[in-house]
Amino acid sequence: MAERSVVITGAASGIGAATAARLAAAGWRVIGVDKDECDIVADLGTTEGRRHAVEAAAARCSGTLAGIVTCAGKAGLPGRAGSEVSGVNYFGTVDVLEGLRPLLDAGGAAVAISSNSTTVQPAVPADVVEACLAHDEERCARLADAHGSVAAYPATKLAVAHWVRREATGPGWAGAGRRLNAVAPGMIDTPMVAEMRAHPEAGPLLDLLPIPVGRPGRPEEIAALIEFLLGPDAGFFCGSVVFCDGGSDAVLRTRDWPATWDIARRDFPA
Ligand SMILES: NC(=O)c1ccc[n+]([C@@H]2O[C@H](COP(=O)([O-])OP(=O)(O)OC[C@H]3O[C@@H](n4cnc5c(N)ncnc54)[C@H](O)[C@@H]3O)[C@@H](O)[C@H]2O)c1
Repeated sequence: MAERSVVITGAASGIGAATAARLAAAGWRVIGVDKDECDIVADLGTTEGRRHAVEAAAARCSGTLAGIVTCAGKAGLPGRAGSEVSGVNYFGTVDVLEGLRPLLDAGGAAVAISSNSTTVQPAVPADVVEACLAHDEERCARLADAHGSVAAYPATKLAVAHWVRREATGPGWAGAGRRLNAVAPGMIDTPMVAEMRAHPEAGPLLDLLPIPVGRPGRPEEIAALIEFLLGPDAGFFCGSVVFCDGGSDAVLRTRDWPATWDIARRDFPA
């Protein structure tokens, strides 16, 4: 079988590292991107870094890819600027996906990482979501800074989920035989969560999240789902946001989803 190349952002740690290891073991040629110590070193929080990541990945894959996985992200923490989080979480995701999309073979697939914070964290600021979806990075940074990164985090992840649902069905993705989906992990035992646990204000809040299976998730469990979504058995997945969270969303919002269709409400032009 011809070698399949996959670009994975955030490949140096946590979910990205577990995905890189799993896909490499399955015979994929992995091209990792991270802010240090990776195949491609790039700061995806900046326009320049995103451009560099796309150009360097294109050069390394000789112009064709079978997969893209965008794991790079930063947690919201008291004291951390909201724009630091929105830059990498949203713009570092969609700019890499759009930049690499032309290289994705027909039959290729991309997986973006959203989060169950989109539905289990209260008071997600809608203005940050809208600024993201309008691709107005300056306005988004201003709003995210005003709200702070703790509130901005789920907004960036909600915007990723909505962007995936909006774009996946269009001509550049489904219309060109390319599949785009998202995974929304719950609390996963990674260095990101360790960083939050170590924070005196954020740490205790983590224990408020109910996890019906009785433990945090493992990065390998998310990696397995990502591998499935990239592969041929997931050929009917298009624009899905797959929650994998040990039951947190189901227990907190049992009847909220599936949501019935209010025909009077149209989110996007036909
Ligand atoms: N761990 C969780 O509980 C959890 C839950 C839901 C969603 N997520 C999301 O999953 C993804 C992976 O998170 P993780 O838990 O593995 O965290 P992690 O901190 O272990 O890994 C994140 C990686 O992203 C990289 N990164 C951060 N900023 C970057 C930048 N500006 N440019 C390039 N790379 C950058 C980091 O260097 C790191 O290698 C993130 O998008 C995160 O928001 C995590």
